[in-house]
Amino acid sequence: MKFSYFLPTKLSFGFGTLGTLGSEAKALGASRALVVTDKVMVSTGIAQRATESLGIAFDVFDGVEAEPRIEVAQAVADRARSAKYDLVVGVGGGSSMDMAKVAAGFATNEGPARSFVGNNLFSKKPLPSIMVPTTAGTGAELTVTSMVTVEGHKQWINSQLLLPSVAVVDPDLTMSMPQGVTAATGMDALCHNTEAYLSSLASPITDSAALEGVRLIVQNLEKAFDSGGDRMARESMSLGALMGGIALQAKMVYGHSIGYTIATRFRLAHGVSCGLPLPYIISNYAVACAPKMKKLAEAYGVPPDDDPAELGRAVAEKARGIAEHLKIPTTLKELGVAESDLPTLAEECLEMYPRPNSPLVFDRRSMSEFYRRMWEGNLEG
Ligand SMILES: [Fe+2]
Repeated sequence: MKFSYFLPTKLSFGFGTLGTLGSEAKALGASRALVVTDKVMVSTGIAQRATESLGIAFDVFDGVEAEPRIEVAQAVADRARSAKYDLVVGVGGGSSMDMAKVAAGFATNEGPARSFVGNNLFSKKPLPSIMVPTTAGTGAELTVTSMVTVEGHKQWINSQLLLPSVAVVDPDLTMSMPQGVTAATGMDALCHNTEAYLSSLASPITDSAALEGVRLIVQNLEKAFDSGGDRMARESMSLGALMGGIALQAKMVYGHSIGYTIATRFRLAHGVSCGLPLPYIISNYAVACAPKMKKLAEAYGVPPDDDPAELGRAVAEKARGIAEHLKIPTTLKELGVAESDLPTLAEECLEMYPRPNSPLVFDRRSMSEFYRRMWEGNLEG
């Protein structure tokens, strides 16, 4: 067995940890912060709660949009370079945290935002950064990746240098999340834990996190969706999402790739776009990942079965049941995908978002067939 794991981010988890933001900023030697967030965080007062706790000089960039375009990343870059900041604080969901991570990099590295799209294109050390997630799902507070939409396609700015200095995960900030956001972000977290577990880059560290993350989410996502005020469920969801962030270093398999091909076309929240393929991923990967299925089934609360294909179908049914409970579409047909578009989507998936770490290898034909199953709602592996 061989693996490496690198996570330099300090984690601070629990109700009330938002109050530690000031001491974390001080510990980083910061005196002037750029707070990167969105207008919802400002209007709901969450951004203000964060800045009050920060206790140092700050400016706010509140222009982050959902699924940010590269133009937004450029606006963030301009702002980050407009004054002498020594800290970036991201407050919000995955989009705000992704833009905060790139802001920290753009502040110390010259060049247009577009020139950083790809892998490891920052040469100078970014500013220190603190991430404050307000949803329970994306795990962006612990990842090297910032997603950007470039000419309608999902792309990424990846750099190990962008890993945040601190993540302050306070479940209290998730208490007021609307049902739809709870559903989409919670499903994203379930995908992170499940896909990372199925990845051939999984390690004992990512597996431990992923299985615990699946268990927490399966037991609590529907509760958090039904009763947003359930503090225990919210806390478990924040922890499950954090586990997903830790597991994400094993990388995603084709569920997220498929999600990217439908997200912008159908204007879907990220968690909805990757939640739709999840049950099909589980049932189709079950045989290729046979030795791992027993523990995955256990985490999903599914009774044991010696036949990995049967077990895969049962776990997939369980995942589909959760999606249905959350009112997340479970077939491509229901989404409005034309049958004639399936081969194009399959080709885009393989060409733009390949997964060399997928234990299940697809070619054009098998990926087209896979899209057809998702169109029809066929969970057969
Ligand atoms: Fe995701």
